[in-house]
Amino acid sequence: GAADFDLFRISEEHGMLREAVRSLAEAKIAPFAAEVDELGRFPQEALDALRGSDLHAVHVPEEFGGAGADALATVIVIEEVARVCASSSLIPAVNKLGSLPVQLSGSQELKAKYLGALARGEGMFSYCLSEPEAGSDAAGMRTRAVRDGDFWVLDGVKRWITNAGVSEFYTVMAVTDPEKRSKGISAFVVEKGDAGVSFGAPERKLGIKGSPTREVYFDGVRIPAERMIGAEGTGFATAMRTLDHTRVTIAAQALGIAQGALDYAKGYVRERKQFGKPIGDFQGVQFMLADMAMKLEAARQLTYAAAARSQRGDGDLTFFGAAAKCFASDAAMEITTDAVQLLGGYGYTRDYPLERMMRDAKITQIYEGTNQIQRIVMARNLP
Ligand code: CAA
Repeated sequence: GAADFDLFRISEEHGMLREAVRSLAEAKIAPFAAEVDELGRFPQEALDALRGSDLHAVHVPEEFGGAGADALATVIVIEEVARVCASSSLIPAVNKLGSLPVQLSGSQELKAKYLGALARGEGMFSYCLSEPEAGSDAAGMRTRAVRDGDFWVLDGVKRWITNAGVSEFYTVMAVTDPEKRSKGISAFVVEKGDAGVSFGAPERKLGIKGSPTREVYFDGVRIPAERMIGAEGTGFATAMRTLDHTRVTIAAQALGIAQGALDYAKGYVRERKQFGKPIGDFQGVQFMLADMAMKLEAARQLTYAAAARSQRGDGDLTFFGAAAKCFASDAAMEITTDAVQLLGGYGYTRDYPLERMMRDAKITQIYEGTNQIQRIVMARNLP
């Protein structure tokens, strides 16, 4: 019936949200994107603008003071921010990644305290899973948490932590029983101000230069037992379940970056004249744009299908989350590379935003699990 066809059309509310975020992003985030990249500085203007409009962590349920946005609305916010500045899109994306373990598995008290603080803009959330020797093999982590009466004491090193240092709150996966591998891992909330927490030097990266990536050190960090997220031994499952949902947000980031590049290239080929006419009149250029738009729309359909599964909590989310992230990030890499090509020499310079978009797109093929890991996840969870 008619309702089935609505599945393939964005609701009026989602459409209005997109328009609102697009105008906010163009007015308050885009003007700083080049400088944020060039200087490798945190996009404070974006954080202020997103907080000012309650868009910094839209996924937090209303019960805890958040906007209660559904998974598709969250995707739309991230997409529109990434369209102008990928570094800034990590604010809403990593706030979801860091806090989702609490939302999925935490006690009512933990949710009220930390999701509330996140929604009120009192602090951002980061996610601490990877370590120097445990990247793709996340269950091979060594960070230890040892029980001491009503406390847990954490020791170890986490690496590649997005927004480390600027976030107030950290979800940390640590080994509580070394005999049990993934079933001996538990999740905790650690605060930036807890004694024994410190940060490494910012990584010097190819892209997303405005989003700080640092190591986080835990040196005898003593936290109350209530800060454990869910039951002992469930931390790895919570971490994986979280990634099922948030890989959809990385797909959203890829879509946004690709859309930004396509929009720019489309405008450019109408203006740029060679051989006496706009280069967009040449079929070779038209075919490139057609392929770029086709790949982008295919990636968007898959991402929105994954977002619907994330919202409903469907069993096949694991496959769809991995597939959306893998497909959309590969599409974004191809589309941004072609967009640079369409601008020729200009595309290769920092005077135009395309080379930044191409550099920013690359990370989406790597983080929240490399696209090789996504294929392992897909193969183990074929629909
Ligand atoms: N949902 C719920 N539970 C899950 C799950 C899921 N999707 N996947 C695994 N589990 C649980 C299960 O309980 C499972 O036990 P059973 O087999 O008894 O069900 C247990 O975890 C162990 O699972 P596996 O045997 O599949 O574990 P594995 O060691 O083979 O690893 C892996 C699986 C898919 C390779 C996983 O290690 C992985 O995803 N690796 C990539 C890690 C990753 O994505 N890191 C990104 C870090 S975040 C980031 O990038 C930072 C940033 O700031 C942006």
